[in-house]
Amino acid sequence: MKYYLTTPIYYVNAAPHIGHTYTTMAADLVARWKRMQGYETVLTTGTDEHGQKIERAAKAVGKSPQEYADTISAEFSRQWTGLNLGIDRFRRTSDPRHHAVVQDLFRRCKDNGYVYKSAYTGQYCVSCELYVNEAKPGDPCPDCGRPTETVTEENFFFKLSAFQDRLLELYDKDPLFIQPETRRNEVIAFVKQGLSDLSISRTTIKWGIPVPDEEKHVFYVWFDALSTYMSAVDGEGLWPADLHLIGKEIVRFHAIYWPAFLWAAGLPIPKRIFAHGWLLFENDKMSKSRGNIVRATPIQEVMGADALRYFLMREVPFGQDGGFSYDALVGRYNSDLANGLGNLVSRGLSMVQQYRQGIVPAAPSVAENVAEAARNAIAAVKTHFDNFEFSKGLEAVWGMLSVVDKFIVEQAPWKLVKSPDPADRAKLDTALYTTVESVRVAAVLLSPVLPESCARIWAQLGLAGSPGDAGIAALDWGQYPAGHAIGAPSAVFPRIDAKPAIEKMRELEEAETARQNALVGKKPEPAGMAEGVAPIAETIDIEAFTKVDLRVGVVLSAEKVKGSDKLLHLKVDIGEKQPRTIVAGIAMAYKPEQMTGRKVVIVANLQPRKLRGIESKGMIVAASLEGGQPTLAGFLEDVPVGARLK
Ligand code: ME8
Ligand code: MG
Repeated sequence: MKYYLTTPIYYVNAAPHIGHTYTTMAADLVARWKRMQGYETVLTTGTDEHGQKIERAAKAVGKSPQEYADTISAEFSRQWTGLNLGIDRFRRTSDPRHHAVVQDLFRRCKDNGYVYKSAYTGQYCVSCELYVNEAKPGDPCPDCGRPTETVTEENFFFKLSAFQDRLLELYDKDPLFIQPETRRNEVIAFVKQGLSDLSISRTTIKWGIPVPDEEKHVFYVWFDALSTYMSAVDGEGLWPADLHLIGKEIVRFHAIYWPAFLWAAGLPIPKRIFAHGWLLFENDKMSKSRGNIVRATPIQEVMGADALRYFLMREVPFGQDGGFSYDALVGRYNSDLANGLGNLVSRGLSMVQQYRQGIVPAAPSVAENVAEAARNAIAAVKTHFDNFEFSKGLEAVWGMLSVVDKFIVEQAPWKLVKSPDPADRAKLDTALYTTVESVRVAAVLLSPVLPESCARIWAQLGLAGSPGDAGIAALDWGQYPAGHAIGAPSAVFPRIDAKPAIEKMRELEEAETARQNALVGKKPEPAGMAEGVAPIAETIDIEAFTKVDLRVGVVLSAEKVKGSDKLLHLKVDIGEKQPRTIVAGIAMAYKPEQMTGRKVVIVANLQPRKLRGIESKGMIVAASLEGGQPTLAGFLEDVPVGARLK
């Protein structure tokens, strides 16, 4: 039995953040769970390296796209390894083995009559790598809000329109093809609106896979990227994939384009697509372009990779959006892992240590309610993990753990150990065995989610191998070998002090941003303004600026305004028949005699206003730092009175 699953292949325009980690960890969880069920599992991930988005990101830091892609791709790969994610195939789209597969897919589509050449003019969103059919020049992209660009090119087109009915039939006949239901409904609605043919080549870009026999054309990135799922396992007999795990924003490409490409080529389509929701941070989608991101490595350093996995899988029902916060992360860790699972493990093992010199006794009887709680948890995990409901599965395991906790309190082994009554000795043995056996079952059940921690628990139970390798057959009650010695206990989830831990993670996060920027040679963003420099005012358009009429004037006379230290009363000629009266707040910086004959800049179309009883018709332009003295604007060259500044 084989099970082939994939994550998206991530763009290399920036290094990974926990949004990418989220999908990859979930995929690793599914892979481990399937492996426990006896499947030969293969998990593919990789990097999406072609297209304009990457070309521009590379150019911005003066690198070649290949150089840039090499750096970031290595970063993704290193991160997955460091996080103990079991990646079986890491495929880069710049890999020549991948090129051959894309070109082959194209030839098949073309030979079957699903490709034609045509000129195309449209609004293109570089960030989403997508033509926005409905957009007019100047319109923003409906997905990301960035401006679209008008692009005209001769392209190869894919006859997507030919697949509308077949796609609707697929969604209808196989309701699980796209999950969850909300995403399925969206896709159905989208396809029902009608599908236009899709441009699948570009002549405006160089950084891509060349279209066979058509030098000027490279493949559209999505035609290229989706094919990775096949090229990664080319010749291994693993296609079609059992599962594409993705984020919800790319469901259209996977559920509409991808099956259509494959049908056109006469190839089998993937069996299932699951689109999870977005991780939000500070109430917004975490994204490289928005800059509101959190990375996995600082969290791993302070709390361990398992803590992050547990949090992500437990906190957010898979398929829905969910917020990430450091507070919630540490909170869940302390309540569920330190106080919950961790506490049970150390309690159970230390009792065996203290009361039975580290040897787990045989149980004279079965604690039925605990064994039943375990059976329920096992059944729940099987159902929920198979349905991608990780949170519910975990909740069920914690339900079992609380039954065990209650059982220990009821049995009170610390009292039983003091009793000389043989019936109490038997009860103690049952209590100890039951606790150890519960921990063993929990370690197996949780190993797809907490692989490192469960392996440590396994070792502390004195068991060989790993709970993951033991597989689901190890879930049946009563398999802990009686008379076996436990290993050395040590805290699996030590309690974490929230404040210093969060401070440390934030600190490491900043260092990580700097490191990643340095990696690609990106300069750090300017951090606000220098001392005393006012922040830049709100953006205005050119029309707003041209409304302001600035003129060169010459000061004819100047005198202090009576009763004011700050104001000068000026007569200024700006080329009108009559000089203007202007009251200016410059008396602290300029004496009246310095002003006469001086050329100045006047805002000539300001609403007049009265200052100290004098009507001021305009304003004189001066520069100052916040709270500092004004310096009048002037000219180095001679300039005629009445000239307009624009
Ligand atoms: O879309 N929350 O790559 P990408 C949850 N190259 N998941 C997130 C996330 C967030 N805030 N941010 C990213 C691409 N992800 C294409 C894919 S596949 C043939 C080509 C995860 O770098 C999620 O899985 O933008 C999402 O779909 C993926 O990263 C997008 O990564
Ligand atoms: Mg994206």
